[in-house]
This record gives sequence, structure tokens and C-alpha cells, in this order.
Amino acid sequence: MTANSNPNENRQPHRILITGGAGFIGSNFVYHWYTKYPDDRIIVLDALTYAGNRQTLGNLETKENFRFVKGDICDRSLVDTLLKEESIDTVAHFAAESHVDRSILGPAAFVQTNVVGTFTLLEAFRHHWQDNERPENYRFLHVSTDEVYGSLGPDDPAFSETTPYTPNSPYSASKAGSDHLARAYFHTYKVPTIITNCSNNYGPYHFPEKLIPLMCINMLLGKPLPVYGDGQNIRDWLYVRDHCSALDVVIHAGQPGETYNIGGNNEVKNIDLVRMLCQLMDELAPELPVRPCEKLITFVKDRPGHDRRYAIDATKIKTELGWSPSVTVEQGLRQTVEWYLANPDWWKPLLSEEYLAYYQKVYA
Ligand code: NAD
Ligand code: TYD
Repeated sequence: MTANSNPNENRQPHRILITGGAGFIGSNFVYHWYTKYPDDRIIVLDALTYAGNRQTLGNLETKENFRFVKGDICDRSLVDTLLKEESIDTVAHFAAESHVDRSILGPAAFVQTNVVGTFTLLEAFRHHWQDNERPENYRFLHVSTDEVYGSLGPDDPAFSETTPYTPNSPYSASKAGSDHLARAYFHTYKVPTIITNCSNNYGPYHFPEKLIPLMCINMLLGKPLPVYGDGQNIRDWLYVRDHCSALDVVIHAGQPGETYNIGGNNEVKNIDLVRMLCQLMDELAPELPVRPCEKLITFVKDRPGHDRRYAIDATKIKTELGWSPSVTVEQGLRQTVEWYLANPDWWKPLLSEEYLAYYQKVYA
């Protein structure tokens, strides 16, 4: 390949079904895909739960190659119809119940969407693929989490693709169940599934209940910044746009039946992360009810079963597919704080009565 050649020159347009495309990572992925492959047909299937937001995709709704369908991944006849009617060749499956704290309050929805929903999609895709005589270019990307591997001690090696599964929360247990199904569909039927397990994402369009947006929004509102337990838990932060570029590479070059771990090489203790956010907000926000923001940090009761440390070993995706993250956590957090400062019209309407009732339950 010469320096000026375009790797996508000979690429045939895809017809991709993106589940959960109105959520955080799904919507970032929809924008990534649309920008990079404008000739592809994109179908978003999303139930618009509390975490789904159709406004996020507003810019795309008028585009000819884009279709939004409000619906449940557990609805087999709807999924069958979409796969057939739209001649789907690629599924990128993001739809899930995704928040650990909500899984502690009410696990049933997690089993329903994450296990039964993934099973429904896999079954529908298996028949669709078989009915079309098993085309080689079909792919089913199952997007999962590093939380299926459990919790690491301070000196343990990072999670690799062969780390045994030890999920600890109803959320991670339900994701583990869905991973096993995706794996079994390749093993048994040769359905071309690929699994990715990634670390904690952050960036634009992140629902306010998760650590980073919650802290940014509470700083802007002058509310306490609730740090669970001693704040020493470690997460390996991945900028969502880096995650989307990794998924793109996996869809195009990953091997069916394989798993790829995706991480940001950014292990940070929660308390250090919150302090970094405080400093960025102090620097970037023109007005703040309380300054410096660190004054708002409040240690609160720990999450039950709180995993201590997650860390991803992303050697496989780097060596086999040539992907590595492009931003450091310092760069990514700066861009994220700037985004929340510039987009109150996106996040303010999400602080609904339902959200405030949830907040009260977790933080009261
Ligand atoms: P999210 O909660 O922001 O979005 C989930 C989306 O799925 C929402 O738009 C919601 O409306 C939709 N949805 C929920 N149930 C549905 C159903 N039954 N049918 C159709 N749509 C439904 O989640 P996210 O953070 O964007 O996560 C996306 C995927 O990535 C999930 O599978 C999650 O497990 C995985 N993941 C997330 C992270 C993270 O840090 N956010 C890390 C690792 C893995
Ligand atoms: P979260 O964003 O919920 O992601 P996950 O639980 O999937 O890792 O939380 C990230 C870390 O931040 C986790 O260790 C829990 C902690 N945390 C707090 O300390 N306070 C909070 O209010 C929240 C939401 C999370």
C-alpha cells in the first residue's frame, strides 16, 4: 500500500444493524460509522429505555442511509423482519442494561435484556445467515465488558482474553451469560460472532448516572461529589472514540470466534480521577457555584460487592489488528469536560424525576 492509497477503496458497502444506538457507546459508534462509511446503510434498533436518547442521533434522522427503529431486542419477529427487510450483513450489538448500581437495585431487567435479548438476536441472526447460505462477510459483533473477569488484586496481571470469567455483580453476571452464548453460537453453528471486552468508557453522550458525567454535572450544579468507599478502586479508562475505532477494526479484520480485549492503558484510582476532573473544571468552567471543586468531594457508603481493580491487557488487538488507543486519560478527560460544558442542552433534560428518584435511592 502506498502512503496515499485508501484502505477502503475496494470495500463493499455494509448494511449494519446497530442495537442500543441511542445509548452512550452505541451513539458514538453510529457517528463514527456514518462519518467513515457514508455509503453504508445504518439501522439503529433501540428500545429507548431511560438510558436511550433519540435526540443524540438528531443530526442523522434525515439522512437517506439511516433508519431509526424503536423496539426491543427481545422481540424476535421485529428482529427477524429487520434482518430480512434490510438485508443486514453486520450486527453491532450494544443494547444492554449497563449500570452496576441499577443491577443491584433491580437485576431482572439485566437478565431479560442482556441474556434473553442477546439470545434472541443470536437466534434471529443464525437463521438469517443460514437462510442466505452462510455468506462469508457476515459478522455479529457482541460488545461486552471487562467486568466479566471479576476483580484484580493490586499486583495481579491485567485481564487477558484467557482470564477465567468471575463476574461479581448482577450486571457482569448477565453480560458473562451473553458472552457465553455468543461464543457458543460460533462453536456450535459457526455463526461468525466476535466478542469484545472493554474497560470503562468515557466521553460525549454519557448518561449522568456514571462516574465521570455524574461528577462533571454535580460540579456544575454545586452538589456533593459522592466517592464510594475509600476511593482507592481502580478502573482502566478508555476514551469512547478510541473504543469505536477499535470496534471498527474488529469488524473489518477480526477473526470470527475470537475475543479481543480493548483497553485504554489508563489505570487510575477513583479519587485521583475525581481530583483530575475537579482541576479541569476549575480551569475550564467560567462560572461555578463552588470553587475549588475539590471542596465538594464527599466519601459515601461503598457499593455492595464493589470490584477493587480492573485492568486490560490489550496486547492481542495491538499485535494482531494493529489497534492502540490514541489519547491519554488527561487528553480524553479534558475533551470530556469541555463537551459537558458546551452541551448543557443535552444533559439537563436527563435530570428527570425518574433520575432524581434513582439518585435518591442510591445516595440517600
Ligand atoms: P447505555 O446504557 O448508555 O445504552 C444502552 C442502550 O441500549 C440504550 O440506548 C437503551 O435504550 C438500549 N436498550 C436497553 N435495553 C434494550 C432492549 N431491550 N432493546 C433495545 N434497546 C435496548 O450503555 P453503554 O454504556 O452505551 O454500553 C453499551 C454496551 O457496551 C453495553 O453492552 C455495555 O455492557 C458495554 N460496555 C459498556 C462500558 C461502559 O463503560 N459504558 C464498558 C464496557 C462494556
Ligand atoms: P461506574 O461509572 O458506575 O462504572 P463501573 O461500576 O462499571 O466501573 O463507576 C466507576 C467507578 O466509580 C466504580 O469504582 C464506582 C465508582 N463510583 C463512585 O465512587 N461514585 C459514584 O457516584 C459512581 C457512579 C461510581
